[in-house]
Amino acid sequence: MYIMKTKLIKVTSPDDKNLEEAGAILKNGGLVAIPTETVYGLAANALDSEAVKKIYQAKGRPSDNPLIVHISDLSQWKPLVREIPEKAKNLAVKYWPGPLTIILPKSDIVPAEVSGKLDTVAVRMPSNEIARAIIEKADVPLAAPSANTSGRPSPTNAKYVLSDLDGKIEMIVDAGDCEVGVESTVITLAAPVPRLLRPGAITPEMLESVLGEIEIDSAVYDKLAKDAVPSSPGMKYKHYSPKAKVVIVKGEFESYKKFVSENSDESTAVLCFEEDADKLNGFKTITYGKENDSYSQATRIFEALREVDEVGAKTVYARFPEMSGMGLAVFNRLVRAAAFNIIEV
Ligand code: TXA
Ligand code: MG
Repeated sequence: MYIMKTKLIKVTSPDDKNLEEAGAILKNGGLVAIPTETVYGLAANALDSEAVKKIYQAKGRPSDNPLIVHISDLSQWKPLVREIPEKAKNLAVKYWPGPLTIILPKSDIVPAEVSGKLDTVAVRMPSNEIARAIIEKADVPLAAPSANTSGRPSPTNAKYVLSDLDGKIEMIVDAGDCEVGVESTVITLAAPVPRLLRPGAITPEMLESVLGEIEIDSAVYDKLAKDAVPSSPGMKYKHYSPKAKVVIVKGEFESYKKFVSENSDESTAVLCFEEDADKLNGFKTITYGKENDSYSQATRIFEALREVDEVGAKTVYARFPEMSGMGLAVFNRLVRAAAFNIIEV
């Protein structure tokens, strides 16, 4: 692939003049990595199929895995979808701008490259003000998957975007660390009953407060059966993996400690909670948040998975997170990184 010079700009305000250049690159069919409140996204003009194809190339992403379209204003939603049902409108009113993606039947202006040839389109309005300012400057909706090489942990800061995509994209807009740390909640309303496809900071309870009963796709918890057709193409790909093998060890701290003591050598690391670190002297410890605080775990999980490789571990033993509320999002990412390898102790 053609190697280009990737320009890195640091931005702290949505009024920063440098964002004009980001908008211009996008308008002209180029790629810009943008900050959002969830993770960094790799953006292109969503209505330009040639620009969108470059996203797949830069990430090495399978072409049937559709992209999320990002908007900065509600008026941009209507042209992308066949219609906006009442339920969708209610969700948007309550949770946009924010970490929620809503899937609806698509209109003809959405290229097949964006929808992965499905007849639906995923849309979200990010709450990050710099992200919305970039969309405004580009003056088009932006297709943006997470800005990592396909299969790697999603990037929560510009350093990791650079390490995956340097030389492959025109620009990275660095606005510091992402607040949420895991990708948006994805819900489809293009189904008889609203269905949660990917858990995130907008929890099942928050969705039910607007929609009434929802279904949670079994792929949120479990490995997809070998021949099953996934509700979301992304479910079938290996995800979020460090190079190291991740093993989740489920049990109270003392049992966890006993297990790692018996199974560790110089090539192993432990992925534990902050409170545990002191009690695991002698191990290579990497922490991911506080034990009873799923939000703090979400903020750290992807960064921690990258740090596992940075310390050169071959195997990492992770503590099992809480699975309710926001914890479901943390569990969902960790269990994929671990390829569903959970040991109960
Ligand atoms: O927080 C986020 O959503 C981030 C930031 C950058 O906004 N973006 C993100 O995009 O996570 P990506 O491409 O890494 O994840 C999109 C997920 C994939 O699993 C994809 O399969 C699913 O959403 N998806 C997209 N469009 C879909 C559709 N029409 N039907 C079903 N699943 C869809
Ligand atoms: Mg992704």
